[in-house]
Formats: sequence, structure tokens, C-alpha cells
Amino acid sequence: TAPILRRLADLRALTARWRAEGARVAVVPTMGALHAGHLSLVEAAKAGCDRVIVTIFVNPRQFDNPDDLAKYPRTEHGDAAKLAPLAVDAIYAPDPDQVYPEGFATTVSVSGVSAGLCGAHRPGHFDGVATVVTKLFLQTQADQAFFGEKDYQQLMVVRRLVRDLDIPIGIVGCATVREVDGLALSSRNVRLSARARAQAPALFQTLTEASRALRAGVPVAQALSAARAAILAGGFSEVEYLELRSAATLVPLDAVTVPARLLVAAHLDGVRLIDNVPIVPE
Ligand code: PAJ
Repeated sequence: TAPILRRLADLRALTARWRAEGARVAVVPTMGALHAGHLSLVEAAKAGCDRVIVTIFVNPRQFDNPDDLAKYPRTEHGDAAKLAPLAVDAIYAPDPDQVYPEGFATTVSVSGVSAGLCGAHRPGHFDGVATVVTKLFLQTQADQAFFGEKDYQQLMVVRRLVRDLDIPIGIVGCATVREVDGLALSSRNVRLSARARAQAPALFQTLTEASRALRAGVPVAQALSAARAAILAGGFSEVEYLELRSAATLVPLDAVTVPARLLVAAHLDGVRLIDNVPIVPE
């Protein structure tokens, strides 16, 4: 099984050896509670690079809600067991002071793509993500990093920050892994009651139907209001946002004239679920 490294100095010693061998290094940043979505990123990383580091760090700075942070599942033993068959080369699960040393005072803040959507509803969230991801890129000095399209806005924030800061790393986006009923895999799904779990697939079903309607030329406002109503009728208590955005820039669209993304956040049984689907223009 892969070594679990807690300290930056140990990570650096290992990656220096790999670089001396000329190996291409991948990093897969996670907060643990690993599921098949995370493992698909690891598989893509294995296919594209010679060495794979999985990072596990529940980053306090990206939680806008202390209760969500307290409830976030921590399952490191199980995570290591899930990674064993994939033969990753290292698990970096840093002690908190290795990421945020005493006196830490720097924030990486990406404007533009961070605004709206999750950024509007989770104040400080993307600053926390951008800051920790920048640190993980610089600590691992990986050649490529793998992210899921499940968190589409996050993927766009990360692409923007490496471009803006000239961080020499390739960002690879990977398709969302779903349950057979369409529900996107998420570490938060375990918090759903049995009843809510049965209702949850309505989110993806509705996105799929709305994307078909939009491609068929139904006006955006009409398609989105029908989708919003369907989500609420499906048992969700609140639709935080449901928006059509450009897939490349995340600017709001009022027609599918360029490759687009339909993105949603909604609450079910006290759990906040997010999802998104691509829409290609005719
Ligand atoms: P976490 O939620 O653990 O997700 C880690 C990675 O797994 C992210 O890139 C996320 O998009 C991807 N992922 C989650 N569910 C997925 C699914 N169903 N299919 C495909 N990929 C999926 O995202 C974070 O952690 C954090 O914000 C992090 C980037 C680690 C920074 O702290």
C-alpha cells in the first residue's frame, strides 16, 4: 500500500527522487471520504502519468458553514483501503500546520468565474479552494492535476488560477461519475435519508430533460422555470440556483449559442446537492 505522508519535507524528498528519474507526476486533490468519483480521477491520473499522489485534506478555509465542516466525513483508513488496489504512489494527508503554518496570512482569490453560482451562496468558499489548491500544486510540484466536472465552477476557478499565476501544471477535467439512477456521486449523499435518497435522482433527470428542451429550442426562461418547478415537485425544499452558463467562461447565457453548461444547487432533506450537465449547440 502507498505511504501516507503527513509532512511537506517527506513529500518533497519523495517527489525530488521521482523528478530525478524523469517521472511525470500527477496529483489528485481530495477531502477524503473517497467514492467511485474520486477513484475515476485516480484512474485517469494513472493512465496519464508515471506517479500519482492523492491528497486528503479537509480544508477548513473552504467551509462557509462550521456545521458542514464538523459533519464532513473523515474516513482515512477506508480511503487508504480503497486506494490500495489502484496502486497510487503516495497519499499526502498533511498535518494542518503543513498547509497553514502559524501566522499564515495569504489568500488566493480568483474573481470573475468565482462570482455567482456556488460563489454567491458560499461566501469565501472559492478563496479557500483557490488557496489550498495553489498550495497543493506548489507542494507537490505535479505536472498534471485531475479534477471532476461534478464541481464545474471549481474546475473553472482552478483553470483560471494556474493561467493567471503561471503555475506550470496541466489541469485535466474528468466526467461526473453517477449512480445507476443518475445521482452524481458525492461524499454528502450518505447524509440523505432513505426517502430523500429515492427522491434525489430527480435533480439529474430534470437537468437532462431541460437540456433536451433547450437544444430543441425552448426559450431559456421557460425551460428553466419548468425545471425549477420539477425539482421542487420532486421533493426538494429549495433551488439555490439553476442557471445556463457558457461552458468555457461561465458567463450567463440567454440562448445556447456556444457550448453551455446547465448548473444547479438544491436542498433535499437538509443536504445541499449540486450537479451540472453540458449542452452543445445544434
Ligand atoms: P472533494 O469534494 O473531495 O472532491 C475531490 C475531487 O473529486 C474534485 O475534483 C471533485 O470534482 C471530484 N469529484 C467529486 N465527486 C465526483 C463525481 N461524482 N464524479 C467525478 N468527480 C468527482 O473538491 C474538493 O474535494 C475540494 O474542493 C478540493 C479540490 C480537494 C480542495 O480542497
